[in-house]
Amino acid sequence: MRRSGIGYATGKIILMGEHAVVYGKPAIALPFHAAKIETTVVFHRGATQIECSYYKGDLANAPEVISGVKSLIITTLKYLKKPNKNVRVVIQSQLPAQRGLGSSAAVSVSIVRALFDAFHMPLSDDVLGKLVSVAEEIHHLNPSGLDATTISKGKPVYFDREKGKDDISLNLDGYIVVADTGELGQTRLAVTEVSQRLEENPEVMEPLLNRIHELTEQTRETLESGEIITVGLAMNEVHQILQQFNISNDALDRLVSTARTHGALGAKLTGSGKGGCMIALTRDYETASVVAAALEAEGAIQTWLYSLKEMIHHD
Ligand code: PMV
Repeated sequence: MRRSGIGYATGKIILMGEHAVVYGKPAIALPFHAAKIETTVVFHRGATQIECSYYKGDLANAPEVISGVKSLIITTLKYLKKPNKNVRVVIQSQLPAQRGLGSSAAVSVSIVRALFDAFHMPLSDDVLGKLVSVAEEIHHLNPSGLDATTISKGKPVYFDREKGKDDISLNLDGYIVVADTGELGQTRLAVTEVSQRLEENPEVMEPLLNRIHELTEQTRETLESGEIITVGLAMNEVHQILQQFNISNDALDRLVSTARTHGALGAKLTGSGKGGCMIALTRDYETASVVAAALEAEGAIQTWLYSLKEMIHHD
């Protein structure tokens, strides 16, 4: 069998602004290069097929759980003016799904890249973003576009859903520890609940969303000026606000407090919450290793650490 096209993507973490970004506030996201997704497109004779951890077989019979991916493949083939047949799309992922690490957007980015590669077509950022949004709108309720933007770009991003994205110049010499609670994040539920809270209690929710906005702006500045302690404090405060939104849970809170007691400068949940992952910021690799070991002892099923400096220079 001939391999005909290949596409890669890595995940993302949200440093600041999850949920608030849905309501027009800015957010800051960083690429998560520690785990990647590789999609290959193989030509064969017959119906379009897909192979992934959820399903292996004809795309036409794919289960509901991958309906976004199914629409994405059909739409991308149509965009490329190719018939919906004679390709097998094989997805291999190191990124755990539904943990707030952007695996759904990363799968989509890698699929579009692999299909364009298979048909030797150049792919612009704009077209990539538009195609990926096909799947994101099926997977998420009212997606802000933050995941797709950060993953397509593979660089730190300051994002506003109305104004678009902006680069961040990051001058921070620190480490991020990412820990997986092992519980599935529940994006749809979390986004729905926050929107209900906002509708029912605007006088409580709006000031909190505004505070997240202020902390996000402050973090953008402190990432540039290298004030790591202030970044950590902002992470702690945002976690407290997200707790008030009721989107944290025991597992996330336990890991966040473990990270802090083992030397992290700041820690918070990342992504939609109600499960998924948390992140912690440390000044150096040694502290990051201590924090990661403590998080695993406290029940994290997987941890990753990465240097903010290396992340910026990552290709
Ligand atoms: O948990 P994730 O990676 O799906 O992130 C969701 C982030 C939210 O701000 C909660 C929603 C969004 O569309 O930005």
